Amino acid sequence: MSISEDRERRYQDILDYVRYLEQRTQEMEAEIALLRREVKYYKQEIDKLMAPPLIEGVLLEVLDEDRAVVKSTTGPNLIVSISGNVDKEKLLPGTYVVLNQRGSAVVDILPMREDPAVRAMEIIEKPKTRYGDVGGLNKQIQELKEVVELPLKNPNALKELGIEPPKGVLLYGPPGCGKTLLAKAVAGESDATFIRLVASELAQKFVGEGARMVRELFALARRKAPSIVLIDEIDAIAAKRLDIGTSGEREIHRTLTQLLAELDGFDPLDNVRVIATTNRIDVLDPAILRPGRFDRVIEIPLPDLVGRLEIFRIHTKNMKTGGDINLNVLAKMSEGATGADIKAICTEAGFTALRNGRMYVTYEDFVNAIRKVLKDRFRPYSNEVEYLPEMRDSEGKRLVI
Ligand SMILES: Nc1ncnc2c1ncn2[C@@H]1O[C@H](COP(=O)(O)OP(=O)(O)O)[C@@H](O)[C@H]1O
Ligand SMILES: [Mg+2]
Repeated sequence: MSISEDRERRYQDILDYVRYLEQRTQEMEAEIALLRREVKYYKQEIDKLMAPPLIEGVLLEVLDEDRAVVKSTTGPNLIVSISGNVDKEKLLPGTYVVLNQRGSAVVDILPMREDPAVRAMEIIEKPKTRYGDVGGLNKQIQELKEVVELPLKNPNALKELGIEPPKGVLLYGPPGCGKTLLAKAVAGESDATFIRLVASELAQKFVGEGARMVRELFALARRKAPSIVLIDEIDAIAAKRLDIGTSGEREIHRTLTQLLAELDGFDPLDNVRVIATTNRIDVLDPAILRPGRFDRVIEIPLPDLVGRLEIFRIHTKNMKTGGDINLNVLAKMSEGATGADIKAICTEAGFTALRNGRMYVTYEDFVNAIRKVLKDRFRPYSNEVEYLPEMRDSEGKRLVI
């Protein structure tokens, strides 16, 4: 190898090495940039972690230009000042506000919360439930079509006719017979937003917030109109009382007063309808049944034989069955059962099949499920039983006493 060739090779080697170093520099610069960003992120996180917490409160009353009464969520009512940058227009009683960490001034306003997981509300934009999912309540469905669905769908037709639909409808009857289900079906059929407030939960979980929740509920219903507001189990806030002594009772009374004010306040022709349900119509404060409030009362009774048959049909529609299942007989056998009982019977029959390693449900599974779900309420219609061959199990033993 000549000297010049040797030089040339060394020169190439060095050049390669320089290229390699240049590339490494670029890579490392990119890494530095990345790490810088990370450092910045963690510094911000540290700042967040080190910042003293602010306090959440509920505004009760604005006293004057720069003072307000706020109920802090941690304790007593406070009289605090209002910081200059807070929009005073928005400071309505019931708004959530942020207090500085000393709890001495309102420094910000929190947005209205609609998160149904946090509140006692359930919101379904357009429920899929249909009248076909409700068994044995044809008369009631017809009535609800007229007083709720039709006005919601054709507000103008009613206006032209000069008819005012009832503002509120009360559904009453024993538990588990389809009140909540029916209200949801009406919303589904009316293409309306379904907003459900469970009054008993409101009374238990949201002490001190009932009135505001009711106000928020109606504001939400108007924003999402057409909508159906369901006040489920309204007796929890609308039972008549002999005295309103304790603070808890006063609070519940305030909630009811707010509800009545909302009902009285809204235009019967705007696109919000209110349905309430109760298992105990006898304990309701008559004030809620006055004209212009819940003035249409519909009974949702225990299903009769035909009703039970329909409900059995609905809940067995998607079940895989083996052999002939005589739903008529099942309906007869389950006298006194509610819709919820029948649903439980069908589920139980399905599980019995599974437990026995079968992928289909038999007639016997149903009979046993009826006995299990209804327990002492189980009254076999004994004279007819004798004549029904399918009332015996595979060994010919009678299934019903
Ligand atoms: N009439 C019915 N038709 C079909 N299913 C029913 C009926 N009544 C009750 N159910 C079943 O029982 C469940 C509970 O009923 P629900 O509507 O909550 O009763 P309520 O509100 O009257 O206490 C329903 O989700 C449904 O599965
Ligand atoms: Mg209910």
